[in-house]
Amino acid sequence: MTEQPTPQELEDLPINLFEYQPLAKAQLSRMAYDYYASGAMDELTLRDNRAAFERRRLRFRVLAGVGERSSRGEVLGSEFSFPVLIAPMAFQGLADPAGELATARAAGAAGTVMVLSTLSNVALEEVVAASSGAVWFQLYVYRDREATQALVRRAEAAGCRALVLTVDAPLLGRRERDIRNRFHLPAGLEAKNLHAAGYGALAPVAGESGLAAYVGSLLDPNLTWDDLSWLRSITSLPVVVKGIVRGDDADLAVEAGAAGIVVSNHGGRQLDTAVATLDCLEEVSAAVAGRVPILLDGGVRRGTDVIKAIALGAQAVLLGRPILWGLGARGEAGVAHVLDLLSAEFDQALALCGCRNLGEIKPDLLV
Ligand code: FNR
Ligand code: LAC
Repeated sequence: MTEQPTPQELEDLPINLFEYQPLAKAQLSRMAYDYYASGAMDELTLRDNRAAFERRRLRFRVLAGVGERSSRGEVLGSEFSFPVLIAPMAFQGLADPAGELATARAAGAAGTVMVLSTLSNVALEEVVAASSGAVWFQLYVYRDREATQALVRRAEAAGCRALVLTVDAPLLGRRERDIRNRFHLPAGLEAKNLHAAGYGALAPVAGESGLAAYVGSLLDPNLTWDDLSWLRSITSLPVVVKGIVRGDDADLAVEAGAAGIVVSNHGGRQLDTAVATLDCLEEVSAAVAGRVPILLDGGVRRGTDVIKAIALGAQAVLLGRPILWGLGARGEAGVAHVLDLLSAEFDQALALCGCRNLGEIKPDLLV
């Protein structure tokens, strides 16, 4: 159960998503905070994801009778109370002892979908059981295809509603803070889903991020579009492809049977100087031409950001780091509050744009 804040705590609670970051920073170890916060190299893409939202301006409509509004919708059969899903993020046990369980409970209570990372600190079956809502499973393909297939089988058996294949990480981006901190999982934490396969530990490595070493030795850098077809052949779940920033790649993904696309550059953690996600959404949207749903992530922090992404062709967005800041600052209650703040901002933005529901958010809202 979420603990109710005391009146004093209520007064001191953050009033927007940004305010959660310093609170979490004060709670977390340097290694954990830097891992969550950082982007690759100069962090240009990390900043530009955010800046792309800040660059765009809204042409709001008036006198549209917005007294009754709904933010509800669905994507691939999973319903949401507002169009913000939780992005897959590894190692949530670094933020809170309950880790992914806390995020799953808050997501379910808020009526939204949690995308669970392959690299979770809690086994996927437990996470699905903890959520009252839909859970999608983000898949990393291991060189060991049997271990990969076993993950897919488990995600299906547990009741995950979709697979999200991440394609922008054939190897790990160079995150300089993680190199400096020799990022690793402290004693007591492991990649729980990989325990049985013997790939659970993430040890310190001299002069390198332990995660970069893990990804380099265990994940398959040789994936091609054929592997998307392979994945489709071994599962009946819809396969969403995450990490697309080009129209031609989006087209190839749909041709190979993707059930959805996530426009993403991994929150600026992979290729630095990659294009900001909002800046490539129109191109991807034009290429997909309504054949499959499109999601977007990277830099979403305000209700108006969600409006902008939908106006440019997304069905919904994924929210990344602010979830970890909520989790690190206040556990499950923090995640719940982050979702609540963004949901309220979105509803307000909807009204002020002259829209009563998601279907009324159209490209003409943007300059
Ligand atoms: C991620 N992301 C990520 N993506 C993925 O497909 N699998 C993963 O395991 C992870 N792990 C992960 C850990 C951490 C700490 C972060 C911050 C991000 C990327 C994530 O799903 C998403 O694309 C970005 O985080 C979205 O950007 P914002 O909202 O964080 O700006
Ligand atoms: C990350 C990986 C795990 O971004 O996706 O840290």
